[in-house]
Amino acid sequence: MSSKMEPGPDAPSDNNNDDDEKYGGDFKVTPWEVEGEVDYNRLVEKFGTQPITQELLQKVKGMVGEIHPMLKLGYFFSHRDFDWVLDKKDKGENFYLYTGRGPSGMVHMGHVMPWIFTKYLQDKFDAKLLFQLTDDEKFLYGQDRTREEIKKYTYENILDIIAIGFNPKKTRIIVDTKHIQHLYPLATEIAKRITFSTAKAVFGFNNSTNIGMIGFPPVQAAPCFLPSVIEGKNTPVLIPAAIDQDPYWRMTRDVADRMGYYKPAQIHSKFLPGLGMLGKMSSSRPETAIFTTDAPEVVEKKVVSAFTGGQPTVALQRQLGGNALGCPVFWYLRYFFDTEKQSDERLLKCRSGNLLCGECKSDLAKGARPFVAEFQKRREKARDVIPMFMYDGRPLEE
Ligand code: TRP
Repeated sequence: MSSKMEPGPDAPSDNNNDDDEKYGGDFKVTPWEVEGEVDYNRLVEKFGTQPITQELLQKVKGMVGEIHPMLKLGYFFSHRDFDWVLDKKDKGENFYLYTGRGPSGMVHMGHVMPWIFTKYLQDKFDAKLLFQLTDDEKFLYGQDRTREEIKKYTYENILDIIAIGFNPKKTRIIVDTKHIQHLYPLATEIAKRITFSTAKAVFGFNNSTNIGMIGFPPVQAAPCFLPSVIEGKNTPVLIPAAIDQDPYWRMTRDVADRMGYYKPAQIHSKFLPGLGMLGKMSSSRPETAIFTTDAPEVVEKKVVSAFTGGQPTVALQRQLGGNALGCPVFWYLRYFFDTEKQSDERLLKCRSGNLLCGECKSDLAKGARPFVAEFQKRREKARDVIPMFMYDGRPLEE
């Protein structure tokens, strides 16, 4: 099964066994580890979030005219107060977007999905965006990464973020160790309101967790309130992020009232499966992830050797049909390259035995190769414009 990162000896572990039992104990989601086949419906219950309803989708459609496929097809599947943020916007109160990345390695297609969606939100709602790189978190977690490595990944990841095409006037990147002076006053305000006992319950810290990790969550929480500081008035914030980040926002929402800020709203994504199995695409298993920096032959090779939901033989596939919903190639095509109609047809054809895996793989390679090639061009151009994106206290433009 997939784990987001190999846990180091001091990795915080989710020691909440009662919960594991209650929810079957067959998958685990924390900000640092994702294991097993995730049941997203149960996660909504477990984390106490709201499912995305048809009504909410219609509301989005009414406001911006189109529903992004990642929202429509359920890649973003859960939220907190997304409806509230939209109501605020309706009444003329603008919201900020806030998202981030832990620079623990190179970026792959699973990472860029929520960013592409974030750009859609920025464009459609004319929203300002704060993008945090938690280089401190990724240094503190586990024992295997040096400062130098993290610094290199931070730089490389910034190129990917810029390559997404965010509006430079409305977007600021925050690198924790570089821009900590802008976060620290808020982080200490937050930290003061959270006890160790709460942090243990929310994040699963234990006695062998290093104290840097224990002190880190307020640093990730601080950008939730930074927009209010920048704008000089209470400002709504919407966080698009994978569901594994939810513990941070539960904690942040808990202190928001007491600090006099709006609770940050969230819209949660699923994990994009790796090409090796279902579960989260993992940078620690490079052969199962398509990186934005992969050469075309490498993309091709990874797709060809991908795991699928197909039967062991063609004859069996024709007879029994494939398991499309358990097939990473299917999901890649659905979220990235197929239209909804194409994807629905693919599902039917696969299940009825009228589609062989080779065809899907070939479709995926046809989509992924040019996508990655185009992305690499944009990444190269990004090198020249990094300073425009860096947080430095300049106001973001209206
Ligand atoms: N902790 C996140 C990670 O490991 C990075 C992050 C920081 C983030 N702030 C965020 C992710 C806000 C989503 C939204 O990837």
